[in-house]
This record gives sequence, C-alpha cells and structure tokens, in this order.
Amino acid sequence: MGALSTNFESLYGHKPQVISEAPGRVNLIGEHIDYSDGFVLPFAIADRTHAALAKRSDGLVRIASNQRKNELFTIDAADVKPGSAGEWEKYVLGVIWALKIDSGLDILIDGTVPTGAGLSSSAALECSVAVALNLLFELNISLADLARATQRAENEYVGMPCGIMDQSVSLMAQAGAALLLDCRDLSTQSIPFNVVNHGLELLIIDTQAHHALIDGGYAERRASCESAVAKLGVRSMRELTLDALDAAQDKLTPVEFMRARHAVTEIARVHNAVVALKASDFAELGLLLNGSHNSLRDDYTVSCPELDLAVHTSLAAGALGARMVGGGFGGSAIALIQASDLKKTRTAITDAFISKGFKKPRFFTSLPSQGASAQLLS
Ligand code: GLA
Repeated sequence: MGALSTNFESLYGHKPQVISEAPGRVNLIGEHIDYSDGFVLPFAIADRTHAALAKRSDGLVRIASNQRKNELFTIDAADVKPGSAGEWEKYVLGVIWALKIDSGLDILIDGTVPTGAGLSSSAALECSVAVALNLLFELNISLADLARATQRAENEYVGMPCGIMDQSVSLMAQAGAALLLDCRDLSTQSIPFNVVNHGLELLIIDTQAHHALIDGGYAERRASCESAVAKLGVRSMRELTLDALDAAQDKLTPVEFMRARHAVTEIARVHNAVVALKASDFAELGLLLNGSHNSLRDDYTVSCPELDLAVHTSLAAGALGARMVGGGFGGSAIALIQASDLKKTRTAITDAFISKGFKKPRFFTSLPSQGASAQLLS
C-alpha cells in the first residue's frame, strides 16, 4: 500500500487522504439469478483493486491507473453524469455520480484482479472507489446501500444491466466463507468454505475467451426472465416452483420456459449447496456444480465451447464438480478437485485447449478473502 501512496504523490504532487481496496469474486453457485430476486453463493478472491484518493479544491476530477502509465484522465466535476467521456474511467465516474459527490478529486487506481476473466474486476474497481468516498466524505452509507449505488453506477453510467451480486460480495465478503446473499433484501449469511481442510482445491480456470455476445446476450437473458415473470403473474422467479412452471408452460415461449427453468432450478441448487457445505458433503456440492453448468449451457445458453471444454476436461481428470462462472460467453470456470490432482488437471485442460486450437488458459486458486475496506491517512 505504501507504494500506491508514493506513486500517488509523485503523480499528483500531494499525498492521498484515503486508501482503499476491494476484491474480485468467484461465484460458487447461483448464476444468472441475482436479477431474478434469487440467492447466490459467491466468495471474494484474494486479488483486489486498490484506490488512493484526495479532494481537490478546483472542481477537477483526475483519474489515473498504475496499469495504464502516462494516461491522466481529467473531467470537470460538473460534467460527471451519464454520457460523459471516459472508457474504464466510467466505472469510477459512475460511482462518483451515484454517490452524488460534487467535489474535485485526484484518484489513482492499482490492482491485480484479471480483467475480462469473469472475476468482476469492474465491481472491484467500483467498490474500491465507493468505500473510499464513503469514508472521505463521511457519508456513512451502509454496505447494502453502497452495493445498490455501485450497481446503479454500472447500470446507468456504464450501461451494463448487471445484477447486485458482484458489488455485494466485493463489499460484504468474509474471509474463509462464501456469502449467501438474498438478492431481494441483500441480507447475508456467512457459509464457511474450507476446502483445503478436506484435501480439496477450487481451481479457477480463465479460458481467455471473450465472446462479443456478452453485452447483448446478458440483456436478452434478463429481458426473457422479466417477460416470463410478467406472463406468469408472479413477482419474481423466486416465487415459482418447478411444478407451477411446468403447469404454465403454454403461457410462455419455449425460450422463456427454458430461462425460467434455469432460474427455478438454480435457486434450489443454491439452497442445496448450503446444506451440502454445512455437512461438508463435497461430493454432493460437486454434483450441484455440474447441474448448474448443464442448466447454464442447455437452458440459459450462456456457455461457450471453451467453458464446456474446461468443465468436461476437469471432470474427466477426476474433479468432483465443475461449472462456468459469471455472465458467461467466455471468462472463467471453476473445478472442485482433490488438491493432489491440481497439476494433472491443469495439464489436461491446457492440452485439451491446445489440441482444439484455443488460447492457452490461465489458472488461479484462491481462498475466500475479506471484502472491501478503506482507511484515512493522517
Ligand atoms: C455478471 C453480473 C452479475 C450476475 C452474473 C451472472 O457477473 O455482473 O450481476 O448476473 O453475471 O450470475
């Protein structure tokens, strides 16, 4: 952290007033149901985004990143509103806008969350800025309201219609545990997730695939869920049972029916995963991961050949379960494996990717880490 403060001072010529950090995430289970009022079970990864901030008295907002040396983005605070200039800076500007900050600011970002890997580098960036502003301006906003504000930043400023999962876990995660999040009221429960004690490892496989479908495909899935819910006359997918859905099949288009079936079964899998984790039943957890992947692939159709190959190869190498994580159409998969199989699994996946002519995948492992934090500097 000392290095970020030093870099800030050499870039801006004065010290930061606050420094902060926020993690990326992996979602154990509960995919594409946060915007359907569902339950999700993500955890924060060790990789995080750091921010250093100070107020400016001249009304200018200046933003820089250690990952993009020599680029300094400058905007008048009065111009920070949707439609403004900016590329990645919009994630920062969106948070300033959502929290109604009208002061000038100097901001320096640094981070290790891989971008484009489906590990929520965008939420980590938004949340690192949000907790820093909350402290710097003494806003006293609760973590749940910060999650809603950062989601609004991404929905309305960046233009990505994401749900509430990524920001919530980046802000509220507890070390050593997955976060059971009720996406309707943002209440949480910590579910201990200590695979290492059981000789297991959660392997994160970044397929390095980024299919262009992501934006339109995500919005299209959300829209199908909304139209299905409207036609069925329920408040959300959460109110639906599989029997009720089957009975009402003729009210829906085939696509709406498949999307709804994913949502209903995925919510059930989250609850069953919590039961399995509480009982340390990792064999059952593995089956639930597989069920989630199949449903995302077949009913929600958000997988892709690289993700399917990562999952298939992990299972063939002995994984207890595997699935794609995040929005899909590329990004990462997870595999629950015996720790002793780590090397074998990585090699099998790399070989399979090479033989298909896919990009070489990257691998991570991470224990569940702590959510965002900020500290004032004297
Ligand atoms: C992206 C979105 C989340 C969530 C996931 C899918 O990560 O940002 O809100 O919808 O996709 O579960």
